[in-house]
Amino acid sequence: MASGASYDERIANYIQAAEELKRGNFGISIPASPADDVGRLGQALQELARTLELRYRELQNLNRLTSHINSGLLLEEILLQVYNDFRDFIPYDRVGFALLEDEGRTLRSHWAKTEYPAIYLGQDYSGEMAESSLQKILNSGKPRILNDLEKYFIQKPQSDSTRLILKEGIQSSLTCPLIANSVPVGFIFFSSLEKNTYVDQHIEIYQQIAGQLSVIVEKGRLVSELAQQKEKVEQQYQEVRRLMETQNSFMGIAAHDLRSPIASIQSVTDLLMTAEIKLQPDEKSEFLNDIRVQTRHMLGLLNDLLDVTRIEAGKLDLILISREMSDLLEETVRRNARLAAKKSTRVILEPVPPGTVLADPTRIRQVLDNLISNAVKYSPRASLVRVRALQEEKCWRVEIEDQGPGITDHDRKRIFQDFARLSARPTDGEKSTGLGLSISRRVIAAHGGEIGVDSPSKSGEGATFWFTLPTTSEGLQGCSND
Ligand SMILES: Nc1ncnc2c1ncn2[C@@H]1O[C@H](COP(=O)(O)OP(=O)(O)OP(=O)(O)O)[C@@H](O)[C@H]1O
Ligand SMILES: [Mg+2]
Repeated sequence: MASGASYDERIANYIQAAEELKRGNFGISIPASPADDVGRLGQALQELARTLELRYRELQNLNRLTSHINSGLLLEEILLQVYNDFRDFIPYDRVGFALLEDEGRTLRSHWAKTEYPAIYLGQDYSGEMAESSLQKILNSGKPRILNDLEKYFIQKPQSDSTRLILKEGIQSSLTCPLIANSVPVGFIFFSSLEKNTYVDQHIEIYQQIAGQLSVIVEKGRLVSELAQQKEKVEQQYQEVRRLMETQNSFMGIAAHDLRSPIASIQSVTDLLMTAEIKLQPDEKSEFLNDIRVQTRHMLGLLNDLLDVTRIEAGKLDLILISREMSDLLEETVRRNARLAAKKSTRVILEPVPPGTVLADPTRIRQVLDNLISNAVKYSPRASLVRVRALQEEKCWRVEIEDQGPGITDHDRKRIFQDFARLSARPTDGEKSTGLGLSISRRVIAAHGGEIGVDSPSKSGEGATFWFTLPTTSEGLQGCSND
């Protein structure tokens, strides 16, 4: 503008410059001479242009920052962006983040990051909000600067969080409230190892994006919560599916296993009821015995199925009684030896050391019955089955050794699963459902014991099934070998 310009021309130029500024064109030159009253107006306009430009750039940067932070979806991602991006605006050696819980009554630290491992504040710090200085920050909505934490602690020696961060070497802090749509969410803490790090300008910068940042953080929290819930629902769904699949396969196998005895009972009763066929008394009793055997088998199968479903549903109530181990074993071995005699197989019990076992006798008898009857069932006629009990530190170890085919490596992986009817087949036409060992596994686990099988990989060399049981209630915590 020429220095000889008239008063009106100079004013018109300033009006035009103001219009340019309004349009965001900050780079214009505004003459401030001659230094009369009008010139001073020009000078003020030029300073305004510089301030506006600075503010504009700052805002642009902050916008970029918030949109960058907003690109994170989960809370952890968003907080990491805050940690990485805020450095250009606010200085810090650590950023911490705490969430309000319990409808704003409690504050729990949730996340913190620093390059200095020594000043990492544990994730589990939590404190009451009532009457705390943090509550005042939330009420005012304005960040707080503490530029000399040592001095602050002398004034507020009851502040636990200050004691902790001082111990980690932090000297000054900027505490920023997060308030999303008028609802307090939590805090972001900027901390520095130096005194006097923070100035009012940092507060101003923070406040320009506080609202946006709070909403982003709250969004992240909700998304994270949803992700967690989704994972939980997914797990529950898988569990329900697993149970349904088990139930379906149970139904299928049970239906299959029940069909043949029912069909045979039906044909025998048809025969007995047909008036024209005159049966001899011994024929009649043979048929009736057939019905008895079949119904006993069906009842056994149904009881086994009920056991499995009851145990799966967590409804196996053990009645624990402390008993001499020898009593429990002698009675069971005697009963099974009588049954095995039909197959000319001998079942012997090796001398049992004195001592008690804490167990549900009915359930342990069920396990022993299955293991001993298996040893007889899958071994050739005229075999020998040995039962022995060894006392270890807190546990008993009971072993049942047979002279049968043993367990192949392939079968070993499946042997304790439901309906595992494997390569070994009964040697004398006995029934086999494939539930005995899976029930035994569950019963022994409920006692805090373990069950397993040792068998040489060479076929025909027999198998030794074993289980452990606690001697006292201490052992109930677990009877593993450690
Ligand atoms: N002592 C053993 N020697 C060789 N194979 C065995 C022995 N015990 C069990 N098995 C194999 O493991 C499978 C599962 O045994 P489990 O006791 O669970 O069922 P099961 O004896 O077939 O029927 P039940 O439900 O009447 O006990 C058997 O079908 C058999 O193939
Ligand atoms: Mg069995």
